[in-house]
Amino acid sequence: MKSIDQFIKAKEEGKKITMVSTYEFWSARICEQAGVDCILVGDSAGMVIQGLDTTLPVTLDEMVYHAKAVRRGAPETFVVVDMPFLTYQTDINEAVKNAGRVLKETGANAVKLEGGEEIAHIVEKLISIGIPVMGHLGLTPQSVHALGGYKVQGKTEEQQKKIIKDSKILEQAGVFAVVLEAIPSKLAKEITEFIEIPTIGIGAGKYTDGQVLVFHDMMGFFDRSPKFVKRYVEGKKLFTEALKRFKEEVQEGKFPDKEHTYE
Ligand code: KIV
Repeated sequence: MKSIDQFIKAKEEGKKITMVSTYEFWSARICEQAGVDCILVGDSAGMVIQGLDTTLPVTLDEMVYHAKAVRRGAPETFVVVDMPFLTYQTDINEAVKNAGRVLKETGANAVKLEGGEEIAHIVEKLISIGIPVMGHLGLTPQSVHALGGYKVQGKTEEQQKKIIKDSKILEQAGVFAVVLEAIPSKLAKEITEFIEIPTIGIGAGKYTDGQVLVFHDMMGFFDRSPKFVKRYVEGKKLFTEALKRFKEEVQEGKFPDKEHTYE
């Protein structure tokens, strides 16, 4: 993807969109070389990189740091950056300043904001001054305490109506795509058919217009994975085996050998 128009075009043409959430130069480079459509610099960095329990403590400075590294690793890929908790909700001018800073300092293409109706005026303002916005509905991790934990959303009729309504409000506010996180597949299908902008699902089944996974999740770096994560490789196992071999070879005097030594 090179521009927001291509997200809409992909939906019109029935071409599924791939997005990967990652945070640094080397994994961004791998994503670009593998042809991933879009990189999200997610505030899940708080959990994946910093080992926090929630995304709430993540700062704007940290997101800028990660996004700069990602942009250097993936100069040709569409990059979206998560706006951290309380960098856009409190004051519209703050939102403009902070989202503007992200685009200005990192070279990213767009920002992602969590929420529906309650943030629609902020979305409109950002778009009006030329900052593309991706939406995020369903399980919105910045509201983890209000939601009572990391739970599947949209199970009750009331929740379903709200998510459907919010998806239309975000579309009307001008977002170019919306992430649907941890909702039943049937609801994601209904939303995908209801709005014209692409839906990008995570734990939302197969009917969305695209899929997003966290790089470190899909590469199998954690002991356990949530149901919606497919582990495409057992990274933790591979890396642990490599580190054990390194230790053994150093202790046995096998490394460094001739091949890895300057004469
Ligand atoms: O922070 C993140 O990585 C995200 C994705 C899981 C959608 O918001």
